[in-house]
Amino acid sequence: MAVRSTILVVDDEKNIREGLAEALGIEGYRVITAADGGEGLNAVEGGGVDLVITDLKMPKISGGELLRKITGRYPGLPVIVLTGHGTIEDAVQAMRAGAFDFLTKPVNLDHLSLLARRALETRELARKNRELEAEIEAQRRGSSILGSSGGMRKVLDLVRRVAPTRASVLVTGESGVGKELVADALHNLSPRRDGPLIKVHCAALAESLLESELFGHEKGSFTGAAARKRGRFELADSGTLFLDEIGEINPTVQIKILRVLQERKFERVGGEETVEIDVRIVAATNRDLAKEVAEGRFREDLYYRLNVVNIEVPPLRERRDDIPLLAMAFLREFAEENRKGVEGFDARVRQALYAHSWPGNVRELRNCVESAVVMARGTIIGLDDLPPSLRGGGGERDIQVPLGSSLEEAEAILIRETLLAQGGNKSRTAEILGIGRKTLYQKIEEYGIETDSGRVEEANAPGAGA
Ligand SMILES: Nc1ncnc2c1ncn2[C@@H]1O[C@H](COP(=O)(O)OP(=O)(O)OP(=O)(O)O)[C@@H](O)[C@H]1O
Ligand SMILES: [Mg+2]
Repeated sequence: MAVRSTILVVDDEKNIREGLAEALGIEGYRVITAADGGEGLNAVEGGGVDLVITDLKMPKISGGELLRKITGRYPGLPVIVLTGHGTIEDAVQAMRAGAFDFLTKPVNLDHLSLLARRALETRELARKNRELEAEIEAQRRGSSILGSSGGMRKVLDLVRRVAPTRASVLVTGESGVGKELVADALHNLSPRRDGPLIKVHCAALAESLLESELFGHEKGSFTGAAARKRGRFELADSGTLFLDEIGEINPTVQIKILRVLQERKFERVGGEETVEIDVRIVAATNRDLAKEVAEGRFREDLYYRLNVVNIEVPPLRERRDDIPLLAMAFLREFAEENRKGVEGFDARVRQALYAHSWPGNVRELRNCVESAVVMARGTIIGLDDLPPSLRGGGGERDIQVPLGSSLEEAEAILIRETLLAQGGNKSRTAEILGIGRKTLYQKIEEYGIETDSGRVEEANAPGAGA
């Protein structure tokens, strides 16, 4: 035992009091004693008591009263009551009043020692849970990014330091690591927090639309432009513009963005009027932009303008210490959402979550915990509740395409299932399917496959039911 636990023994019979104290002392506990409920309460009020063992029938303040005072004022402090032989009614009442357990006299010392250990362990577990809860709460302030690993601490530190400035930030990292959350935090922790945060998913928009989407257009500037439309840059004025998947934009738009970064002004598509704006740019990519530059696909000058500060979010497998905290936070979230009394993971599940390589990073972990909470039958998540890929030996599996499906339907099923198997990681999905990422994004859009919160519908998974 790292820190010695303190047990308070309350009994009006000196022999019993001292006998128990001696036995528990031999077990390594620190023991203090009291001769009645009043003395016992004083001792508890003095602090430092981890467990109370009390007789019920005592002069002045009885054990029952002591129990009620403790459960009222010190929730979490376990109380074991001692009852006389044949007074089962008292025991029942004590349990109802919140006793941890009861023992009948004459006390079996082995039994007592076992109960004491269990009560102290329960108390310790509850304390740890409260600590975790407090940590989750503390971390939620200002940003919803959770993480206490060295890697995440660095990220959070950087976020706090650059958020107050207007320096452009390039957020890099694999799919699902939390790049968008970093962008949110940069905005929420900045002086611009009351201004707009506008997000553009550059890869999801067709090239022809991206320019007018970003910069707006004048009435009649092209077929279908029935009225003047303000672009995302204008909408983000005095706030933050988040350019997601920045690696996907074409050269024309690259030049225009470069000019906004340099001069803070632009013209709407088909317009002459120059629009001036005050926008902070946060861009994200899971591509290696430096390589894109080296290979001539991305403008070097724009790269340097965007990458004034680089925040690299490490993949989850390189910061496994974050897994328990994240898993617990997601468990709480989904237990509440689904109104299920799920409280934790068993040891094998904790081990499996820790050991998994998480190709889809935090998004995959979140989805995994959601499905486990939904599947869970009891209060503790067991291995059986985890998706097959986590149970070990997973990976290879077949999908079913109903005969009579069109090619497009089959394609949609294959994309959805591959995405699921890759934990929502689009780069890997594109690689496996042998198509470009851009093509993948367009198909996801076209088929209405929901991916963002990673919620790839499982409706088509074999055995998932309709
Ligand atoms: N540190 C974290 N704490 C809490 N939730 C997180 C954390 N990191 C990621 N998440 C959650 O994981 C999911 C994926 O995060 P996010 O969308 O920010 O990833 P991303 O890096 O932008 O991925 P992609 O490159 O695929 O767009 C979101 O539901 C997000 O809320
Ligand atoms: Mg993202």
